Amino acid sequence: MLSKKVTSGERTLTILDQLSLSVAAGESVAILGKSGAGKSTLLGLLAGLDTPSDGELTLFGKALSRLDEDGRAALRAGRVGFVFQNFQLLPTLSALENVLLPLELSPRAGEDHIAQTWLAKVGLGERVDHLPKQLSGGEQQRVAIARAFVTDPELVFADEPTGNLDPDTGAQVIDLLFTLNHEVGTTLILVTHDHALARRCDRCLQLTQGQLIPFVPADVPAESSVAGEGQ
Ligand SMILES: Nc1ncnc2c1ncn2[C@@H]1O[C@H](COP(=O)(O)OP(=O)(O)O)[C@@H](O)[C@H]1O
Ligand SMILES: [Mg+2]
Repeated sequence: MLSKKVTSGERTLTILDQLSLSVAAGESVAILGKSGAGKSTLLGLLAGLDTPSDGELTLFGKALSRLDEDGRAALRAGRVGFVFQNFQLLPTLSALENVLLPLELSPRAGEDHIAQTWLAKVGLGERVDHLPKQLSGGEQQRVAIARAFVTDPELVFADEPTGNLDPDTGAQVIDLLFTLNHEVGTTLILVTHDHALARRCDRCLQLTQGQLIPFVPADVPAESSVAGEGQ
């Protein structure tokens, strides 16, 4: 049972309240919930980027509480990819250099070729030397997706990946994310506000009042797939 509390001043805020979640290898899980519900906090805990106030987390069969920050980073290296709402590319690095970054922690032969292949896969084979600011939002998110998949991770976290994109671009980014996910066979944990998107996952959960509850997304037509995403 996982809990996360934070204190600000004299007040204690319970963000996650004794929730429980188990995700099987290869499964795709959508997590929905209002802004401020604690979705990003939950992803941070699941990835071992943050530590719980109470409860035990297991990643790839290892108890995260037994590892320090470096140990958790080593466990993630090459095995976990992230896609964020605001892309989080390093502004001074080219598209190619951004995609190469995760390989620094997980070195292998032919890194340049691997990174270039991933950029080509996301449709940016001609943009390898561009800086993030020279790319559109959709292109930046595609670089971020190439970066998330470049190590052939077992698990990908996506936190509102279309939240900063217009509906058409968002839909393309999502198609790409699901295509790659199926191709590589990763486990996908996806935070989204969008029901059409959530329906493409094996399982949908809603985070509300610190608890996860099963969720049945509304039957919305595909063309509204990313409308309403974002905050
Ligand atoms: N370190 C922190 N200190 C105080 N409040 C925090 C901290 N981290 C998150 N919060 C609060 O916890 C709540 C959940 O945040 P978050 O996980 O980002 O929500 P979501 O991703 O669902 O929008 C928010 O109200 C946020 O302000
Ligand atoms: Mg969030």
